[in-house]
Amino acid sequence: MRTPVVAGNWKMNGSKSTVTALLQGLKQGLNPGRASVVVCAPFPFLGLVADELSGSAIQWGAQNASQYPAGAYTGEVSVGMLQEFGCSHVILGHSERRALFSEQNEQIAAKFMAVIDAGLTPILCVGETLEQREAGTTAQVVEEQLMAVVDAAGVIAFSKAILAYEPVWAIGTGRTASPQQAQEVHETLRKRLAAVDGAVADKLPILYGGSVKAANAAELFACPDIDGGLIGGASLDAEAFLAICHAAE
Ligand code: PGA
Repeated sequence: MRTPVVAGNWKMNGSKSTVTALLQGLKQGLNPGRASVVVCAPFPFLGLVADELSGSAIQWGAQNASQYPAGAYTGEVSVGMLQEFGCSHVILGHSERRALFSEQNEQIAAKFMAVIDAGLTPILCVGETLEQREAGTTAQVVEEQLMAVVDAAGVIAFSKAILAYEPVWAIGTGRTASPQQAQEVHETLRKRLAAVDGAVADKLPILYGGSVKAANAAELFACPDIDGGLIGGASLDAEAFLAICHAAE
């Protein structure tokens, strides 16, 4: 039985005051249950998030990390720094990082290994564009993204990781994958990993992301290979995010 996970991806949003209000709303409204709840904040807010969430049932993390431990890497943030701020999770390979900041599979794999080595949990994102879906290459695209990291990091690293399937055409568009579409890709990913290691594949939480809201979360999370969600827009609203967490119970 896999533990459901609901992770908020705040992206580049928020201010000290809105973050404080959001966290207070989450702390007050969350009924701790079976699901793990995580919020992934912009770097400058991590100290504030740590202060607000310490001792609560909510974990926190970042949306990116450097593959390097320290040194002359202007503008980068190391995994060790994230650890100092109490982060437990790091989103890696989000499609916005792949498309807008030219992150490639090889670099994402190096970041994944740095996060694993530090004992934090990577949330590795994979997903196809609309063009790729229409060309019928969805399975090939997501399997390639997954296997690039499996080949570099080793399959055992995935016993400490989370995978997120996020179709690019569903992110921030209001157009969610249907539960059938999402389940089909989740099953494909799990089977691909099972071909390498069945036990690891069986335990791996695979989250769906892309326009998840309170209204569609329950039917997505009811699918056998969907173990929770990676939530963008709706994670900025305490009430909406709490409703999604509730749907994962
Ligand atoms: P969305 O974003 O929920 O706003 O579509 C999801 C994500 O990009 O992680």
